[in-house]
Amino acid sequence: MRVGVLTGGGDCPGLNAVIRAVVRKGVSVHGFDFVGYRDGWKGPLEGLTMELGIEQCRGILPRGGTILGSSRTNPLKVPDGVGRIGEQLAADGVDALVAIGGEDTLGVATRLAEQGICVVGVPKTIDNDLSGTDFTFGFDTAVNIATEAIDRLHTTAESHHRVLVVEVMGRHAGWIALHSGIAGGANIVLIPEQPFDIDEVCALVKSRFESRYAPILVVSEGAVPRDGSGMTLADGGRDDFGHVRLGGIGDRLASEIEHRVGCEARAVVLGHIQRGGTPTAFDRWLATRLGLHAIDAVAEGDFGVMTALRGTEIVRIPLADATGELKLVSPEEYAEAQVFFG
Ligand code: F6P
Repeated sequence: MRVGVLTGGGDCPGLNAVIRAVVRKGVSVHGFDFVGYRDGWKGPLEGLTMELGIEQCRGILPRGGTILGSSRTNPLKVPDGVGRIGEQLAADGVDALVAIGGEDTLGVATRLAEQGICVVGVPKTIDNDLSGTDFTFGFDTAVNIATEAIDRLHTTAESHHRVLVVEVMGRHAGWIALHSGIAGGANIVLIPEQPFDIDEVCALVKSRFESRYAPILVVSEGAVPRDGSGMTLADGGRDDFGHVRLGGIGDRLASEIEHRVGCEARAVVLGHIQRGGTPTAFDRWLATRLGLHAIDAVAEGDFGVMTALRGTEIVRIPLADATGELKLVSPEEYAEAQVFFG
């Protein structure tokens, strides 16, 4: 059997560990051969392939990114994209496809499976917001990077009496903010699932200043103010040197706090640092197991499924169950952490 492998969406620590596991077990246990599709769905859309075998997978386990390259190309937005992919797989002699990706990539895999293409999905995203799996690989690495950043920022908050606003990734879900905020001892955590009231945030900042040193806020990039709780500054305002600040939520919050509370505040946007570099041991372990089980599904002819972590078990679930609805932080889980905030 000839198996195609691709990685789609944002890069994520652990992608190479999945590729290695799929190929190693596919070759040595099942006797498959492989073709790598480059740059996500762009690969099978445009016939961009690379050699993929045991040799290409040597030494990649601790490496971040993906040896296959990635993109956010979505064939569902390209005329006859799904049809073109089917034709390309047939032309390459590919019998089955392993698609490693998040909501968008697996949404495409779901459509392909509906059209009769033999596809198995592996869930990935640092945001941890995919339904059907307890954790996605990449999340643990991102949380560890954010936690280290928060640990380091305590010194500046303490020494300079400055509020530090740490903006982390998470467009729709606050998992990285909540986990790193708890682990790093943040004083306020703001997440997309719970719109915040800027007056309440500023009141917390003030009371924290009065009792101890300046607080650290962790904010998801997708956090939004509650309706009617107007942020008065339309953008990030200007810093001490007169430079215009960018308009991300971290910068806007820092400006708003300075303006309302009358203290110094700084924003630190962690950005793609959270996705870069070597995966943690947990992410390597999870990615490897998800990959091993994915190639077993291919060998058993069990298509249209995604491998997922449930407790300590790796299970298979229908691809359709993993896409369509994101896994969000529940109000209860957010409320549970409130005791540490303020
Ligand atoms: O991988 C998901 C994610 O990390 C989001 O949290 C973030 O908003 C987005 O990717 C950034 O994507 P890009 O690298 O395309 O700017």
